[in-house]
Amino acid sequence: RGTAGAVPDLAGRHVVISAGGTREPLDPVRYLGNRSSGKQGYALARTAVARGARVTLVAANAALPDPAGAEVVPVGTARELREAVLKAAANADAVVMAAAVADFRPSREVDSKIKKRDGVEPEPIALVRNPDILAELSAHRPAPAQIVVGFAAETDDVLANGRAKLARKGCDLLVVNQVGGGRAFGTEENEAVILESGGPETPVPHGPKETLADRIWDIVAGRLSTA
Ligand code: CTP
Ligand code: CA
Repeated sequence: RGTAGAVPDLAGRHVVISAGGTREPLDPVRYLGNRSSGKQGYALARTAVARGARVTLVAANAALPDPAGAEVVPVGTARELREAVLKAAANADAVVMAAAVADFRPSREVDSKIKKRDGVEPEPIALVRNPDILAELSAHRPAPAQIVVGFAAETDDVLANGRAKLARKGCDLLVVNQVGGGRAFGTEENEAVILESGGPETPVPHGPKETLADRIWDIVAGRLSTA
């Protein structure tokens, strides 16, 4: 898989990665979800292990094999993901939010299955905001040298949206990829631009998600070594 013999430039480092997509329950059998496969986050975990890191992978509903050598913490909802990531981040050198976190959840989860009734229109589903985990991680770092990385899938003016989001979230790196037209979701490959606070932009051409993961770790390892 191309990671054997990698330079152990993350040896002695603890990295936390969130992957997959959260599911927000509506009733005992239904949820609001998204199309994230978890493949990019799992590729980040495998490559970080190969580079010598201790890896905590907070996995939201990803139907993928556990990466060898990583500690996997399974979660379901955005609030569970927040708990698990904040706990693991307390002693982490870097946190990468590759998970697709639901922006909203149903304002109430009912204990009984929602039933249809003849001649009765369904109730609208009321939603409330979920916490913004990336913004919270960026604003409340356990150590100033901790590196926080976000992902953004954008349409339209991808780079302008990405730069604005990097500033708004307050993270160090934002990995931006263009979605729509079958790109990114569920595929084996990805194409992205890594935006950094302070200006640098690293385009990563279309290729395996492991390659994009390694370019992200190159930048993270470089920043950690000069911190
Ligand atoms: N994210 C998060 N918590 C949320 C929503 C998003 O931590 N409640 C993280 C994602 O894991 C990702 C980054 O924030 O790393 C950007 O997610 P995105 O959905 O692009 O950002 P939003 O601020 O939700 O903006 P948008 O309105 O475009 O969805
Ligand atoms: Ca969002």
